[in-house]
Amino acid sequence: MNFEYAAAPESRSVVKIDPEYGHFINGKWVKGSTHFNSINPATEEVLSRIALGTASDVDAAVKTARNAFDKSWSKLSGRERGKYLFRIARIMQERAREFAVLETLDNGKPIRESRDVDVPLSAAHFFYHAGWADKLEYAGLETTTAPHGVVGQIIPWNFPLLMLAWKVAPALATGNTVVLKPAETTSLTALLFAQVCQQAGLPEGVVNIVTGDGSTGAAIVNHPGIDKIAFTGSTDVGKLIARAVAPTNKSLTLELGGKGANIVFGDAAIDETVEGIVNGIFFNQGHVCCAGSRLILQESIADEVLEKLKRRMEKIRVGDPLDKNTDLGAINSAEQLAKIHELTAAGDAEGANRWTPSCALPDKGFWFAPTIFTGVTQAHRIAREEIFGPVLSVLTFRTPAEAIEKANNTPFGLSAGIWSEKGSNILWASQQLRAGVIWANTFNKFDPASPFGGYKESGWGREGGRHGLSAYLKGSAK
Ligand code: NAI
Ligand code: MG
Repeated sequence: MNFEYAAAPESRSVVKIDPEYGHFINGKWVKGSTHFNSINPATEEVLSRIALGTASDVDAAVKTARNAFDKSWSKLSGRERGKYLFRIARIMQERAREFAVLETLDNGKPIRESRDVDVPLSAAHFFYHAGWADKLEYAGLETTTAPHGVVGQIIPWNFPLLMLAWKVAPALATGNTVVLKPAETTSLTALLFAQVCQQAGLPEGVVNIVTGDGSTGAAIVNHPGIDKIAFTGSTDVGKLIARAVAPTNKSLTLELGGKGANIVFGDAAIDETVEGIVNGIFFNQGHVCCAGSRLILQESIADEVLEKLKRRMEKIRVGDPLDKNTDLGAINSAEQLAKIHELTAAGDAEGANRWTPSCALPDKGFWFAPTIFTGVTQAHRIAREEIFGPVLSVLTFRTPAEAIEKANNTPFGLSAGIWSEKGSNILWASQQLRAGVIWANTFNKFDPASPFGGYKESGWGREGGRHGLSAYLKGSAK
């Protein structure tokens, strides 16, 4: 028997959105010269007008960050820096509901995820790094404990607040000051975070937020007053940044794309695995760099897994992101939706078989039904390129060696999953896989203490854990 769910919408009255925002420079709001819209991708409603940062806005932010580094932040002990980070973490917890609703409105992700994943993990990153601030000498790092100085940070739209936390928390804990640019479609939680910095009494100029697009990002990358760049986003832009930074003294970390292999061996517990597959690719609409977007199934169990997976996908609830029952929200932008359409059309044209459950999509906004492709070969574009949407490509294998060969046959190397009852099998496979993060009998689990990053075109360096601290200290590899 099927029960109908009544709608359970979260109230949006907890957030106050200004009709227009400026930049946050030197602890104050600075008016922008021109503005662009930030919309709710679930309804196409205009939420606010965001300032388009120019090279001179970036220059002002870098100067104030340098001044704050020289005059206040570098003079504080680690213990004092830690106090600010603890304060920021606690305020984020206190204002968690506000952050969650705002993130869901601006990004399109389900409130269940922003409330239970993005916001608590963001606060956890500040708590974790607050604890390190006065213990850097004891962290066993291969770098010095001296900060770089001013760091430029450019983040994407898939986890706007969480990526801010991944960037800002370690930078401040290690004594750097920051110029951060959020992604153009999702600036609002970064602007709310600026208010948290004010509320926490963070010294002026330690965190500066300049909103804008790729041209603003390029102005940060090319500014001579910046000592280190940290970027998360597409591999194409990552390559541009690597080229721009190569002839300079800037340090660089890059977190780029992925095409994660989720390998299911014949002895895996099928029902749990099906949940893990769903979480691996449909979490956050598949807008996840470490998504398990290639399912690699042992032939002996492929039919059973696919049948159960399809039955499970029929239960995925697509719709209003603010509804607490929603599993799959809106695609973040018209551009991203077009990219998903383009790549899935290539899947059809190249001969793979598309399947989607019978789900109705809202009329307004940007939506894509959860989709799987079977009959995928390694040559297909949907097996090689990052789709960054709720689309799973299914391949099969007969021997463990074939599974590993297919999993590693990718220009990326960010994440992988292994499903098997046998510990020896898991350990063997994890040693063969060329991926930075490997989950066994689970997927998409994150913790601030655990380093995260990729091989090959998935990026350089690690974020999180002790490894992530090193990247913000002098003596780190480029
Ligand atoms: P993108 O890489 O263009 O955007 C990420 C950030 O970089 C944004 O803040 C953007 O304003 C900034 N940016 C753009 N051009 C820049 C430049 N020349 N210099 C400095 N900063 C620049 O990613 P986009 O276009 O939003 O998404 C395209 C594809 O990239 C997606 O379909 C997905 O496959 C991949 N992607 C991967 C992400 C990841 O977490 N690995 C995150 C976002 C996108
Ligand atoms: Mg938006």
